Amino acid sequence: MNIIHKGASIYYTDEGKGLPVVLLHGFLENKTMWDNFVGPLTHNYRVICIDLLGHGQSECTGYIHTMENMAAAVYAVVSILKISKIQIIGHSMGGYVGIAFAKAFPKITAGLCLLNSTPRPDDLARKKIRTRANEMAKTQYEQLIRMSFVNLFDPEYRKLNNEDISLALEQALKTPIQGYIAANAGMSLRQDHSDFWRKSTIKKGIIVGTTDSIIPSDIEEELFLSYCDFFKNISGGHMLHISNPEQVLIALKGFLNYLC
Ligand code: MLT
Repeated sequence: MNIIHKGASIYYTDEGKGLPVVLLHGFLENKTMWDNFVGPLTHNYRVICIDLLGHGQSECTGYIHTMENMAAAVYAVVSILKISKIQIIGHSMGGYVGIAFAKAFPKITAGLCLLNSTPRPDDLARKKIRTRANEMAKTQYEQLIRMSFVNLFDPEYRKLNNEDISLALEQALKTPIQGYIAANAGMSLRQDHSDFWRKSTIKKGIIVGTTDSIIPSDIEEELFLSYCDFFKNISGGHMLHISNPEQVLIALKGFLNYLC
């Protein structure tokens, strides 16, 4: 299904019955990243998957998509569906969008679970990497995606599981250049939401990968463990949903059941 938001088509799916759970994918991903999770979760929940701006089947609204722009598109879907309370699960960039949503729409947000994600902003080094990548995207897009996407996986996992990585890469390569550049710029601009995370009274969960090179698990644990209702360390890297889906599903169910 789709809606028009700021002139752009936004694609979403809505399956199952129960408390509404919104699943938000990460950078260079789309709703298909949740394919193995939607079925099991719909046994107990109404599950809404949304393709974020410039990803999957959703169009771009501009040349920079801030996390707030993306959160506004999520709100547009939630409003059309007339849902008054949601729990959000966001993978990486989807988690950044989830925090922007929770800040903008606190009355609607019952809970937020960050999977391989963080309330912290980019450091200077990461901002520089994004600026360089956005320059390269203009001339060598496919090469850039092939190179950077596989780096999201553990070296060990890379050796063993070429097929899973190829399938995810196939989806990543479908992301239009504008979607890439706009999201990358938007992530670079995101604020530090650490204080918001600590003070917010919504149900909060964090799931980290023990060898995640983008969101180091030890830092998240040190900074946020005592500010979470649910915290889980799972063995694996930044793409836990691909490298360790069974454990991720157990953790997601754990978060959703917690304090329901
Ligand atoms: C993602 O997986 O969404 C991105 O790697 C997040 C990021 O670059 O910060």
